[in-house]
Amino acid sequence: MREVAERQRAEVGSTRALRNAGPMRTKKRKHVIVARADHYSYVAYADPGMAERFDRERFGGPIGALLLEEQARVLSDFLGEVANKRVIDVGTGTGRAALALARRGAQVTGVDASAAMLEAARQRAAQDGLTVTFEREDAHALRFPARTFDHGVSFRVLMHTPDWRRCLGELCRVTRHRVVVDFPALGSVAALQAVSRKAAQAAGRNVEAYRVFRLQAIFREFERHGFRVRRIHRQFVLPITLHKLVGSRRFTAAVERVLAAVGILRLVGSPVTILAERCESS
Ligand SMILES: C[S@@+](CC[C@H](N)C(=O)[O-])C[C@H]1O[C@@H](n2cnc3c(N)ncnc32)[C@H](O)[C@@H]1O
Repeated sequence: MREVAERQRAEVGSTRALRNAGPMRTKKRKHVIVARADHYSYVAYADPGMAERFDRERFGGPIGALLLEEQARVLSDFLGEVANKRVIDVGTGTGRAALALARRGAQVTGVDASAAMLEAARQRAAQDGLTVTFEREDAHALRFPARTFDHGVSFRVLMHTPDWRRCLGELCRVTRHRVVVDFPALGSVAALQAVSRKAAQAAGRNVEAYRVFRLQAIFREFERHGFRVRRIHRQFVLPITLHKLVGSRRFTAAVERVLAAVGILRLVGSPVTILAERCESS
């Protein structure tokens, strides 16, 4: 891990200068880490081992497959027809959303801070015979001009980045029409795990101490950038870890259906996926 941190530090470059300069001024800029380079969101994903095991660990097994299918369904529902649309996937990781969108005919650019994750994404695109542009970029300062893309998506990224408001602002800036993001909700069981991870991190353990979000904070941030939230989807009431432990799609589907029917999913379900649209006037 120390090696990875050192590799990341070597890539930092003129972090402060870029922060002062604001979002991308030059097309020829080298990739630069914008926020604290030793933050776990950079270090953990710079590890080639993480890129290799990421899909297996997070999306393996029947519940992993369920997560993937549901995310693809919601994305398709929220964005509608994407053939020939320009779409950016920020924090693309191994390219899950990017490849799903490319498969539906979108012209996709997937960006990520981690070279290792991007390499895995490129290999998957090649295996699947899909064309996606993958580039190394920091979500805090994208180099693309305003409204370059029709739509922008970012899954499981805002929860990790040091300055989520800036990342969301950048995503809105480069997007002309629709933005889709997801995050774990405050007031869900994910919040308990987030607290325990923060405690573990404070005790010196190497964990991804992610943040959870108030929906109102997300709404406000979208509004600040000229977008309005149009749709909200919540996935699970019970912890994903519990569903994975049980390992049965039937169990998960049955229990979650009951919790949804009695209205609990609407109140405390997580992760939350949001569709926001640019307002006419902005
Ligand atoms: C939990 S993974 C999610 C990957 C993918 N979106 C998915 O849902 O499978 C988080 C990703 O965000 C990337 N990331 C973290 N901080 C970033 C930043 N500041 N700029 C760009 N990418 C970042 C990581 O490298 C990693 O690939």
